[in-house]
Amino acid sequence: MIALDNVTLTYPGRTGPVTALAGTTLHVRRGEFAAVVGPSGCGKSTLMKLVTGLIRPTSGTVAVEGKPVTGPVKLAGMAFQNANLLPWRTVLANVMLPLEIVPPYRQRFSRDKAAFQDKAMALLNVVGLGAFADRFPWEMSGGMQQRASLCRALIHEPALLMLDEPFAALDAFTREELWCVLRDLWQKLGFTVILVTHDLREAGFLADTIHVMSARPGRIAETRAVDFPRPRDLDVCYTPDFTQLVHELRGKIAEARQAA
Ligand SMILES: Nc1ncnc2c1ncn2[C@@H]1O[C@H](COP(=O)(O)OP(=O)(O)O)[C@@H](O)[C@H]1O
Ligand SMILES: [Mg+2]
Repeated sequence: MIALDNVTLTYPGRTGPVTALAGTTLHVRRGEFAAVVGPSGCGKSTLMKLVTGLIRPTSGTVAVEGKPVTGPVKLAGMAFQNANLLPWRTVLANVMLPLEIVPPYRQRFSRDKAAFQDKAMALLNVVGLGAFADRFPWEMSGGMQQRASLCRALIHEPALLMLDEPFAALDAFTREELWCVLRDLWQKLGFTVILVTHDLREAGFLADTIHVMSARPGRIAETRAVDFPRPRDLDVCYTPDFTQLVHELRGKIAEARQAA
């Protein structure tokens, strides 16, 4: 589904060139849940921008579904640390926004608005926000806003969901709730995910594969398969194998930071 091969990305930078990624190779299968972890500033967001076509590699290749990425990738949905909902729109209207923008939905929007509204409501119900569709973002907690942001990222049924530290700003309990929301959406809808996170437990609970990046210039220093059986529930996070995994990942990241 996704193939980055030997990618280098150098930003011009205001005070001289900054090489964010050097020799980065990363492959993700269709339907896989991949997590990317690594020290701050190692190029994780840069990697996400390359995959979604917001920037082009300085050298190397980036391909999605076997096609080289040459511009914004339409089959991707995205969510970030800040929910970034539009304050003047209700939750429902925020979730429907991509359908007003992304083809082929855009062309059908006025005609199919009722059906699209049903679709958005169905998704809001899955994440437990059905009763809040007519609220405004500023009437809701951070966790609720992030749930809505996930719905907005998924409303156009993207084959690929790109998440850049989506839960980083939430408290620990809300974060764990949203892990389960994301797990359920992924199991139900079957999209491919790349999740960037600082939280090793989050990566261990959700992912099939964890890629550990080196310090800048980032490359994939290590790839770990996570084979806890699915469906997983939060109890898995309290098993010795899980603790062991988190401990090992923590060691890898410490090494990566030392090398900087
Ligand atoms: N537009 C830019 N111009 C110059 N440097 C940048 C730009 N964007 C990011 N960088 C630098 O590239 C490096 C990687 O950034 P980023 O991908 O955002 O890291 P991460 O998401 O892992 O924290 C950092 O050193 C950052 O300062
Ligand atoms: Mg980042």
